[in-house]
Amino acid sequence: MKERVILAIESSCDETAVAILRGDKLLINAVSTQISMHQQYGGVMPELASRLHTENIVYTLDTALKDANIKLEEVDAFAVTRGPGLIGALHVGLQTAKTLALLYHKPLIPVHHLAAHIYASEFVKPLVFPLLAIVVSGGNTELVVMEKHLDFKTIGETRDDAIGECYDKIARVLNLGYPGGIPIDRLAKTGEATYKLPSPALGGSYDFSFSGLKTHVINLVNNTKQRGEEINVPNLCASFQKVAIDAIIKKGLKAAKEYKVKQVVIAGGVSANSYLRSEVLAKFPKIGVDPAIPPLWCCTDQAAMIAKLASYLYDEKVLAGYDLGVDPNWEIEDFREF
Ligand code: KG4
Repeated sequence: MKERVILAIESSCDETAVAILRGDKLLINAVSTQISMHQQYGGVMPELASRLHTENIVYTLDTALKDANIKLEEVDAFAVTRGPGLIGALHVGLQTAKTLALLYHKPLIPVHHLAAHIYASEFVKPLVFPLLAIVVSGGNTELVVMEKHLDFKTIGETRDDAIGECYDKIARVLNLGYPGGIPIDRLAKTGEATYKLPSPALGGSYDFSFSGLKTHVINLVNNTKQRGEEINVPNLCASFQKVAIDAIIKKGLKAAKEYKVKQVVIAGGVSANSYLRSEVLAKFPKIGVDPAIPPLWCCTDQAAMIAKLASYLYDEKVLAGYDLGVDPNWEIEDFREF
C-alpha cells in the first residue's frame, strides 16, 4: 500500500519551516530561521517577521521538495499552523498551504502550534496516556493533561507573560542578546542562586504569573546600576532560572500526582533549558512518571511536529475548507474548531 505523504508548513513566529512525512518517516525538516534579523531589535519584530516569511517560504518549500525528492503531485495532504502565533506571520504559511491544497485538490489540515510541540516528542518515543505536557515557549506557559490522543485539557497557564518572554527581557536588560534563554542557561551554570526573587507560582492553582518576576529583575538591575554598583550576572541568571523553573517543576509534580499521569512531556523553546531537562529527569521518575525529553532540534519551532500531529488529524478527518483563516489566539482545547 502507498504510504501517505503529508507536507507541513510552519510560520507562526520567526522560523519559516517545511517538513515532509511519508508514513512515519520524516523525509525532510527544512527550517529557515530569521533570528539574526531580529537580534538588532532584541526580540521578534512582527512586521519584519511577516515580510521575511514571504521572502523565504517559496525557497524553503522548494528546498524541502528537492531534498526529499518529492513532487507536489505526490503529496496527499497539506498541513499548516493556524495558530497561536503572530497574525501576519501565520497568514504567510496558511495562504501558501491553502494555495497548494487548492491547486492539487488535496485536503488541508489546520494544526495547533502548541499541540504540535507536544507531538514533537513522538519523534523520540510514543506518547503514553494519561500524560502531562509542560509547554514552555516564548509566547506560552501551560500545563496540559492528555487522557488520550487528540485530547487536551489546560489545567494551568500563565496569566501574563510567558516564561520565554521573561528569559528574553531579562537577557535584554543584562545585554546578553536575543534569544535570551541560551546565554542565561549558560551563565546560570557558572553562578549561584544568591539573589532572592519572587516566585512566579500562583498558590492554590496550577497558574503562573511571570510579569512580577520579570519586572523585579529588571528593576533590580536598573537600581543597582544607578547606585554605581555591579550586578553579579552569573548569580542573577542562576537565581532567576532556579526560581522560574522550580515553580514549573513543583506544579508539574503536583499535577502529575493529581492526574495520575504515566508520562511527562516537555515542549516548546524553553524545553531546551538544561536545568529544566535535568530536573524533569531527576524528579519525575521518583514518582513513577516516565519523562519524554525531546532532542534539541524538536524543541524550537519546525514543521516536523506540524506534520506529526497532522498525521493524527488526517486519520480523524479533522480537515478544513479552503476558506480557512488564521487564529493568533487559538486555544488548544478548540483545536477542532476553525
Ligand atoms: O518555542 P519557541 O522556539 O518560539 C515560540 O515561542 O514560538 O521558543 C523560543 C523561546 C525564547 O524565549 C528563547 O529564549 C527560549 O525559547 N529558549 C530557552 C532556551 N533556548 C531557547 N529558554 C531557556 N533555556 C534555553 N536553553
